Amino acid sequence: MQKLDMLYEGKAKKVFKTDVEDVLIVDYKDDATAFNGEKKGTIVGKGVINNRMSNYLFQVLEKEGVPTHYIEELSDRETAVKAVEIVPLEVIIRNIAAGSFSKKLGIEEGRQLLTPTFELSYKDDALGDPMINDYYAVAIGASTKEEIEKITNYAFKVNEVLSKFFAEAGIELVDFKIEFGRYKGDIILADEISPDTCRLWDAKTHEKLDKDRFRRDMGNVEDAYQEVFKRIGL
Ligand code: C5P
Repeated sequence: MQKLDMLYEGKAKKVFKTDVEDVLIVDYKDDATAFNGEKKGTIVGKGVINNRMSNYLFQVLEKEGVPTHYIEELSDRETAVKAVEIVPLEVIIRNIAAGSFSKKLGIEEGRQLLTPTFELSYKDDALGDPMINDYYAVAIGASTKEEIEKITNYAFKVNEVLSKFFAEAGIELVDFKIEFGRYKGDIILADEISPDTCRLWDAKTHEKLDKDRFRRDMGNVEDAYQEVFKRIGL
């Protein structure tokens, strides 16, 4: 497969066209941003970890019946993926209170939620990805009702599978963000699942092993990403 022109450069990844129909190559960078791009930095080796980890988790999810864009890992940082049309929604599931949820509701970080939550944000950097609901999403044409139904079912399935998967590695899946794409009439999981997009805490000490270490200037960012990588056996 030949890597052709760059289609798009995002905050953490570049996407290239290929000579194969409906196949793109994603190239993971070490660049890190937070607070809608206001904070910028580098997490050395992050691109390699996120590429490997995301691909691994996508394969775990595929086995459990969640279709994904993953095709083949091409190198440390490059993966062939199905060329989806991204649904412009960020889908967030939470198991434990943290981050914007804690801030918004005045609930201390670390409180176990009585049931997992589901939320949607409209993907728009200029607006700061505002939180919306399913009616908004349908009303503005971001997705259809049927798509949201599929997305909701897949999102909870991802939570079920990954919570169990990380628990076996001594890690709590606090919350995570996923994105979906349209591909040949179906909805499939796209983008990435990594310490950039999940909150992952040590199950015993509750130490943060994710991007919050970068967002909050906590130090040992690279070590935390490496620790997750090691614990899940990669
Ligand atoms: O900031 P907040 O608490 O809403 O984040 C919830 C989850 O979604 C976290 O795991 C965070 O890493 C992820 N997230 C993300 N990309 C965003 C916003 C949140 O990956 N743009």
